[in-house]
Amino acid sequence: MDSLAGYVYKAAAEGRVLTLAALLLNHSEAETRYLLSYVTHLAGQRSTPLIIASRNGHDKVVRLLLDHYRVDTEQTGTVRFDGYVIDGATALWCSAGAGHFEVVRQLVCHQANVNHTTVTNSTPLRAACFDGRLDIVKYLVEHQANIGIANKYDNTCLMIAAYKGHTDVVGFLLEHGADPNAKAHCGATALHFAAEAGHLDIVKELVRCQAAMVVNGHGMTPLKVAAESCKADVVELLLLHAECDPHSRIEALELLGASFANDRENYDILKTYHYLYLAMLERHRDLGTLIAKELLPPIEAYGGRSECRTPQELEAIRADRNALHMEGLMVRERILGSDNIDVSHPIIYRGAVYADNMEFDQCIKLWLHALLLRQKGNRNTHKDLLRFAQVFSQMVHLKEPVGAEPVKQVLHCSVLEIQRSMARVEAAPEAELHTAMDNYESNVFTFLYLVCISTKTVCGEEERARINKQIYNLIQLDPRSREGSSLLHLAISSSTPVDDFHTNDVCTFPNAQVTKLLLDCGAQVNAVDHEGNSPLHIIVQYNRPISDFLTLHAIIISLVEAGAHTDMTNKQKKTPLDKSTTGVSEILLKTQMKMSLKCLASRAVRQHQITYRNQIPKTLEEFVEFH
Ligand SMILES: *[C@@H]1O[C@H](CO)[C@@H](O)[C@H](O)[C@H]1NC(C)=O
Repeated sequence: MDSLAGYVYKAAAEGRVLTLAALLLNHSEAETRYLLSYVTHLAGQRSTPLIIASRNGHDKVVRLLLDHYRVDTEQTGTVRFDGYVIDGATALWCSAGAGHFEVVRQLVCHQANVNHTTVTNSTPLRAACFDGRLDIVKYLVEHQANIGIANKYDNTCLMIAAYKGHTDVVGFLLEHGADPNAKAHCGATALHFAAEAGHLDIVKELVRCQAAMVVNGHGMTPLKVAAESCKADVVELLLLHAECDPHSRIEALELLGASFANDRENYDILKTYHYLYLAMLERHRDLGTLIAKELLPPIEAYGGRSECRTPQELEAIRADRNALHMEGLMVRERILGSDNIDVSHPIIYRGAVYADNMEFDQCIKLWLHALLLRQKGNRNTHKDLLRFAQVFSQMVHLKEPVGAEPVKQVLHCSVLEIQRSMARVEAAPEAELHTAMDNYESNVFTFLYLVCISTKTVCGEEERARINKQIYNLIQLDPRSREGSSLLHLAISSSTPVDDFHTNDVCTFPNAQVTKLLLDCGAQVNAVDHEGNSPLHIIVQYNRPISDFLTLHAIIISLVEAGAHTDMTNKQKKTPLDKSTTGVSEILLKTQMKMSLKCLASRAVRQHQITYRNQIPKTLEEFVEFH
C-alpha cells in the first residue's frame, strides 16, 4: 500500500491525471482515503497528493481529487518556496503562492477555507500578495478572504505587497479597506516598507490614502528610512507631500546626501554634494533664524574633522572626495544617533575601500570606531572581530607594521565579546543553542588568530604588557570549545580551524609562539578536555613530526617546562606517552620526562588501587588523581 501511495503521489506531483485515475481504480473507500491522505516526505517537503498537485499547478489532477474523491481541502503540509520552508500550508495557500489561478478557483469552489493560515499565520491572500498576482488577490477577496490577517510578525498583506513593489495589488488592497497605518512588530508601516524599497508609485498611493508619517522601532520615519537607503525620488516626493517641519526636512536632505557618500551600491558623490548643499541653503535661508547644527565632538576616525557649518565651508570641500566621505559619516552618526543599527555599515564599507588601497591605518581607525559603536549597542561583533584578524594578517603578510595599540584594543573587545557569547550560550533555549555555541567557538578561534598576530607585531615592553593583560583576562574566563578544549589545547591542535581570507597566511596551529605566550599569561598547562586529555596528550599526536619538527619540539619543551605532567592519564587511562603516534614525539617526550619520586609513588597508588583518600594530605589527593 505504501509503495502504491508513492506512485499516487508521484502521478499527482507530475500532473499525470490518467495514470493517477488508473492507480486509484478499484480500491475500497478506506484504501482510497489512505492513499489520498498519505504524507510523502521528499526533498524537505511533506505533502499529500492534493497539496503537491496544487503547489505544481496541475488543475486537472486537483479537479479529479476534489470532484471525484472529495479530498479534504484543509489538509496541511510542509512545502518549499524560493528557499523558504512553509509549515502548515494548505493546497489553497500553495496554489495562491505559486500563482495557479485555476487551482485556486477550484479549491474555493469546493469550499476551501480562504482564511486558513500557516504555522506562521500567513493566509493564502498573503501568499498571493507576496507573489503579486492581482487576479488571485481579487478572486480571494471576492470570496471573503480576510484582508486584515497579519502574519506572526504582525506583517500585513499590504506591507508585503508594498515591499515587493506590487503597485496594482497595493491599490486594490487599499480600495478594499486595508489599513494603511497598521504597524508590524518592528514598528514599521506599509509606508516604511515601500519607502525603504524605493517604490515611488506605492509611496504616492499610500500618501494619497492618508498613510501617516510615524516612527518605527528604530525611531525612523519613512522619510528618514528612504533617505538612509539612498531613495532620492521617494525623499523628494515625501518632502513635497508630507507634512514636514523645517528641521525634519533638513535632516532628510542631509541624511540622503550623507548616505550617497559611503554606500556600495548607490555611491554617488555628486548627489552627496547636491543634497548636503540643498540642506545647507535651507539652514541659512533665513539669516535671522539660522537653523544651526548640533554638532558631535570631532571623532578621530573621521580624521578629527568637524562638519561644515556654512555654505562656504561646504563649497570649499566640493572637489575633495575624502572630505565629503568623512562629512557623510559624521552627518549620519549625528542624525541617526551612535546606537542606530545602520550607522556602522557605511563606516565599515569606507574602511574596506581604504584597505583595498593599502591605506591600512585609515581602515583600522574606521573599523575600530565601528566596532566600539556596535559593541556599545550590544550587537554581535563576531564578524567585526574576524575582519580585524583578516586585515592584520594581510598587513603582516605584506610586511606592513601592525600597531600594538589597535591589536590591544581588538583583543580587549574580543574578551568582552567572548564573555557575552558565553552568557548567550548559557541563556540560549534549546533551538538556538547550536548557533550560540558556533558563535562562541568562532570568537575563541578569532581570539587565537589575534594572539598569533600579536606575536608578530613589533612593540615595546609596556605595549607588550598591555597586550598580555588582555590575554590574561581571557585565560581567567577559561573559555572552552564543545569538546572542552581550552585555549592551550586549541593552540597546539592541528584541527583548530583557520579562516582562509588572509588569516591562514599568518596563523597556523599547532603554534609554538602562541603556546608559549598563553603559558606566560597564566594558561593552565594540565587543563583537560572532556576526554581527559591534557595539551601534552594532544601535541604528541601531531602528524607532521618531521617537516614541522621545530614546532613539535618547542611546544613539548614549553609544556614540560611549565609543569606538564608527562604521566598524567586521560579517561582511557592513557598517558601522553601511550598516545604518542610517532617515534619522534615518543623520543622527545622520553628525553623530557623527569619522573619524580612523587609521580612514581602516585602511579603505584593508582595502579594497585591503594586507598589514599583521607590518608594523605588533601593537596596531594588531586595530584594522585592525575596519574
Ligand atoms: C474569512 O474572514 C472574513 C473576514 O473576517 C469573514 O467574513 C469570512 O467569513 C471568513 N471566511 C472563513 C471561511 O472563515
